[in-house]
Amino acid sequence: MSRVAYVNGTYQPHGEAVVHVEDRGFQFADGVYEVWSVFDGRLADFEGHMTRLVRSLTELRIPIPMTLPALTQVLKETVRRNRVRNGIVYLQVTRGTARRDHLFPAEGTPPSVIVTAKSLSSAKSDAQAAKGVAVITQPDIRWGRCDIKTVGLLPNVLAKQAARERGAYEAWMVDDMGLVTEGSSTNAWIVDKEGRLRTRDTHANILKGVTRTAIMAMVAAEGLELDERPFSVDEAKAAREAFFTAAGAFVMPAISIDGVKIGGGKPGPIATRLRARYLEQARRDAV
Ligand code: PDD
Repeated sequence: MSRVAYVNGTYQPHGEAVVHVEDRGFQFADGVYEVWSVFDGRLADFEGHMTRLVRSLTELRIPIPMTLPALTQVLKETVRRNRVRNGIVYLQVTRGTARRDHLFPAEGTPPSVIVTAKSLSSAKSDAQAAKGVAVITQPDIRWGRCDIKTVGLLPNVLAKQAARERGAYEAWMVDDMGLVTEGSSTNAWIVDKEGRLRTRDTHANILKGVTRTAIMAMVAAEGLELDERPFSVDEAKAAREAFFTAAGAFVMPAISIDGVKIGGGKPGPIATRLRARYLEQARRDAV
């Protein structure tokens, strides 16, 4: 089945879909993105991602490219045309195409909008979660506005590649104080020695993950205690459990950090339960 991409108003064969050489996303990473998980052809955590998209655009003063119902229609149509049942849909909005100049382009320059969708194997993700995955740590070398979901992801790319080259699935980034900020494309969590869930507060320089927010809402109902506070690499290595959250990864148990086994090298009960609950809820509420 051939894939299709939406590019600035038209659906094109994926292999031929292109943007202009002077698109500001390409020239300056002057753009933002969102990723929704797709369950049974429907979008999960829909409002959360849409709200964050609008916030990212507003923070960067990129115009909202079309009405939100129109954008929703494009996202759904891209999923439909690609026949994605389970996977992700990706949206990117840039400040548009203009002669290269650091200054914003002339008012009225239309933002560029691209949407792609791809299928992902739920069986593969479930198998990884059942076994647990390895995490490494990397220095956090990113800019000061990681709350905005920009396409400027070079530090994240380098961190993820370092993880891959060391046989790990994810890299957790660490600030100058030795505290974990977040994963290269996920939010980081532990169950500490006292049995409390810990994840870094979003006053710090991290992305406020939509999956993170959904899990936080579940914590009380699960009878768990949450401490929204940073943790050090040493605390993570001594934790009962470790896991990370994101669209596409859902809740993924980590069973080692820099080669140190967590929870005896097996996925913990809390991460496993939260994953099951999250999948149940996200699938049920997808639109
Ligand atoms: N990444 N932190 C970072 C740096 C991320 O890039 C992401 C998402 C998250 C988790 O956010 P959410 O739960 O809203 O997906 C946290 C997406 C999936 C990506 O870059 O592909």
